[in-house]
Amino acid sequence: MMDHVYIQNIAQYVGKEITMKGWLADKTDKGKLQFLKFRDGTGFIQAVVFQKDVSPEAFDATKKLTQESSVILTGVPRAEPRAPGGYELSVKDVQVVQIAADYPITPKDHGVEFLMANRHLWLRSPRQHAILRTRARIVKAIRDWFDDNGFLLVDTPMLTPSACEGTTTLFETDYFGVPAYLTQSGQLYNEADAMAFGKVYCFGPTFRAEKSKTRRHLTEFWMVEPEWAYGTLDDYMRVGEEFVSYIVQTILKERAEELKVLERDTSKLEKVTPPFPKISYTEAVELIQKNGFPDFKWGDDFGAPHETIISEQYDKPVFVHRYPTEIKAFYMALDPTNPKVVLGADLLAPEGYGEIIGGGERSADLAYLESQIEKHKLPREAYEWYLDLRRYGAVPHCGFGLGIERTVAWICKLDHVRETIPFARMLEKIYP
Ligand code: 4AD
Ligand code: MG
Repeated sequence: MMDHVYIQNIAQYVGKEITMKGWLADKTDKGKLQFLKFRDGTGFIQAVVFQKDVSPEAFDATKKLTQESSVILTGVPRAEPRAPGGYELSVKDVQVVQIAADYPITPKDHGVEFLMANRHLWLRSPRQHAILRTRARIVKAIRDWFDDNGFLLVDTPMLTPSACEGTTTLFETDYFGVPAYLTQSGQLYNEADAMAFGKVYCFGPTFRAEKSKTRRHLTEFWMVEPEWAYGTLDDYMRVGEEFVSYIVQTILKERAEELKVLERDTSKLEKVTPPFPKISYTEAVELIQKNGFPDFKWGDDFGAPHETIISEQYDKPVFVHRYPTEIKAFYMALDPTNPKVVLGADLLAPEGYGEIIGGGERSADLAYLESQIEKHKLPREAYEWYLDLRRYGAVPHCGFGLGIERTVAWICKLDHVRETIPFARMLEKIYP
């Protein structure tokens, strides 16, 4: 039995006397009437303290409440269509737990530097609440989709002896006298798991020592990665469009209130349904050249402005497939009709959010992978187990990785990924 009621369940208690435990977010003093903006972690509610309804001590205590003071309220909720959230609490008693010291984050505007330095407190604000509740629901939608579509959750290690996505962004650590690295991606292990269990996914934090200061890069971010045996590039793009559409449509239904708080234009999200447009890298290069970058050459990698040009042509996410072999990871399968390109594809989100998925078909060819490991100057010993997957029952297989923070930034339409994760890790940022 709960001795108090949470705001998220308030509808069940209309007309009944209840106790709520939380904090004061804001207060408006109208003399005999005190309007409290009260929060308990599950939401925000307006609580009205009328002098004649409470003891003189309780009324005095209410007047002394400062922002973020912890407080226990007893009262009766009623439906109030004009109140944000639709309910209001008529207060009968007020118990102060602690009067908070001068709170650094006031309702006025603060710079983002200051807010990030106070991230441990900033998390309490309605906007951050809306973003992180949306993130949690996106994560649940992701798990539901894979669990309901025959993918087995098989988690992959965080400490690894080798690189997956190139050696320039590895975080090195000391593993009892030998170097080890924080994982950049669970993919290589996923490939072993797919050969054992058919269709698998892993979901966890990944790490990149990214020296870039952009709106899209974190050094610690979460990635969900499915991988399946006998899958092709086309299979991956079909799965990817079904999966991303499911996430977006679920959030439109389940987080409508939060999207309203964030002032998200939902008409753009409503269009996110399968199928998605699919263009080749070569077609994308022509688009880029025609739209302001005549000097862009076949073989160059896309930067953020190039991705924006591509995604602006469509109102849905767009797959770009068959990138030049030279700019993609060592494990990608060559296109049998043109070995200059690989059977990989990235998914670019609309509204300038750039790449949210990377993936494709993996090479099943032992000799080719041996040559790639040499060409990319990777230490062969660390990859012997991976090469075993090509010695014992190699099959075509594919998979992809979706970055959670970029997906949250797009769905919530945020300027920067730093607000999509409770405590962002970025270049020059590890506090708090
Ligand atoms: O394109 P990436 O590097 O692909 C892989 O790691 C593959 N091994 C995945 C796979 O096929 N299993 O990363 C995948 C996604 C990107 O599309 C992006 O959404 C996200 O991970 N991502 C980042 N997000 C935030 N900060 C960074 N530094 C990121 N790097 C990649
Ligand atoms: Mg990528």
